[in-house]
Amino acid sequence: MSTNGYEINEHTYDVVVVGAGGAGLRATLGMSEAGLKTACITKVFPTRSHTVAAQGGISAALGNMEPDSWDWHVYDTVKGADWLGDQDCIEYLCKEAIPAVIELEHYGMPFSRTEDGRIYQRPFGGHTRAGDHKPVSRACAAADRTGHAMLHTLYQQSLKHETEFFVEYFAIDLIMDDEGACRGVVALNMDDGSIHVFRAQMTVLATGGYGRSYFSCTSAHTCTGDGNAMAARAGLPLQDMEFVQFHPTGIYGAGMLITEGARGEGGYLTNSEGERFMERHAPTAKDLASRDVVSRAMTIEIREGRGVGPDGDHIFLHLEHLGEETLNLRLPGITETSRVFAGVDASKEPIPVLPTVHYNMGGIPTNVFGEVLNPTDQDTEAVCPGLMAVGEAACVSVHGANRLGTNSLLDLVVFGRAVAHRAKDILTPGASHKPLAKDAADAAISRLDRVRNANGSMPTSEIRLNMQRTMQNEAAVFRTSESLKEGVDKIYQVAESLPELKISDRSLIWNSDLIEALELENLMECAKTTMVSAEARHESRGAHAHEDYPKRDDENWMKHTLAWVEQNGKVSLGYRPVHTYTLSNEVSYIEPEERVY
Ligand code: FUM
Repeated sequence: MSTNGYEINEHTYDVVVVGAGGAGLRATLGMSEAGLKTACITKVFPTRSHTVAAQGGISAALGNMEPDSWDWHVYDTVKGADWLGDQDCIEYLCKEAIPAVIELEHYGMPFSRTEDGRIYQRPFGGHTRAGDHKPVSRACAAADRTGHAMLHTLYQQSLKHETEFFVEYFAIDLIMDDEGACRGVVALNMDDGSIHVFRAQMTVLATGGYGRSYFSCTSAHTCTGDGNAMAARAGLPLQDMEFVQFHPTGIYGAGMLITEGARGEGGYLTNSEGERFMERHAPTAKDLASRDVVSRAMTIEIREGRGVGPDGDHIFLHLEHLGEETLNLRLPGITETSRVFAGVDASKEPIPVLPTVHYNMGGIPTNVFGEVLNPTDQDTEAVCPGLMAVGEAACVSVHGANRLGTNSLLDLVVFGRAVAHRAKDILTPGASHKPLAKDAADAAISRLDRVRNANGSMPTSEIRLNMQRTMQNEAAVFRTSESLKEGVDKIYQVAESLPELKISDRSLIWNSDLIEALELENLMECAKTTMVSAEARHESRGAHAHEDYPKRDDENWMKHTLAWVEQNGKVSLGYRPVHTYTLSNEVSYIEPEERVY
């Protein structure tokens, strides 16, 4: 097969998973276990995926430290999500958390341990004994390197099966047929410049988030929303993109994550007056309120002139009182990170921190099985055949308007496993594939060719910086009608400068100039959909804090935003209802209530 002068290598699998972070690996492992011939293609070596950076824990109501219950976990997640989460999916997440974590333990994941040998659990923001709002220790931790431990465990397990890994392959675009079904993916082998068509009965997007559309984030440079953008270019909508989580404690000026587990272990925040200000903003949960609440409180303190440092533009996180023994045992990673990136000895002085972009609640809409939705006016639950999405790339939606800390590692394994279960039910191993149309790979190859030969006047870095600054300034912790309107105009202007892109190296082999330009295009689809969706939502809910509409408005806005990128590059919006039902009668629908911590 050859297109536009490019030789194409063809592969046929039952399943192709794109991405090898926690979600991608758990899906890959499950697919292979189910007897499906599975390929996992990934732009970085699996254990370098961004899951490796997750720190504080994975939530499950194991009750190892004190009584806990999975229905309390449901309540906390629904409340954390500010009633935008789909409660059937949340029920599945929290109930399945317990077997999913036990399964990880059996896979050999090196969790920290209690004195009597059980998995160690620590408190985290928004995790409570639902009845009386007291914090509960639900985050199962491997010191402050939980993601690292999990990723290595899953990679080792996946090697037991016959999965084929295609490492350092960059996915360019999905292959869609005339009936709107996904038939696989086109990818570039960055090592030798060869082009590959992976045909599959099922393609699973597990490509992570798009934190890098912002200037300051805790995300790796690889978090460029590749799967989201591929779905958008395939004509599918992205859901709830306006909900971007700011983690309260990114290191000031550097952005590296200081785990919320630090506050779970007893750390606290102060302002320039030495005041523990969270006692005012969230009298019950204090420093362990939900992330959106803490990030807003920090921003208010800084705005009102109580920030610390010469410019009064950040906040202090105190861990000194915990003592070296606890820091070494429970928080060794962030102790080192603070030393390297803030020049601070956390056992002696406070760490300078600032709310920093951390997580995308929005993404590719899916149902509880991980099947990608392609909603129509007649059927808001219609699926796109042949396509699934998991992890941060997906919007199930279990996190709604604000994710609780530790629910992301959980999401990865629970829904990574769920897609494998579903695939086992609906696919036949080795089933024959319909022939692909001759031009099936043309659109993807044209995209590659266009970017590779871009000959304008602006380097990728310049357009990327314009995009990142626009997102950082106009779609921040607090938003206003004016900032968002300006944000929409500006982000369209930045996107319109993409044809001015200049690539100086035309090689297909190890060409970071080319890959970064492809990633920039991906980020731009995410940035546009985020800004336009945010501008349209006239209420405040979870991470979307709109100063001109400071209240949650359930009557008009308890609905998911759908954002399509049209052929002309503009974003159009639609909405679909939030699920107001549960999966079983083990828990009932939790009616919206005022969200206080
Ligand atoms: O703070 C943290 O350790 C981050 C955890 C998470 O985002 O779930």
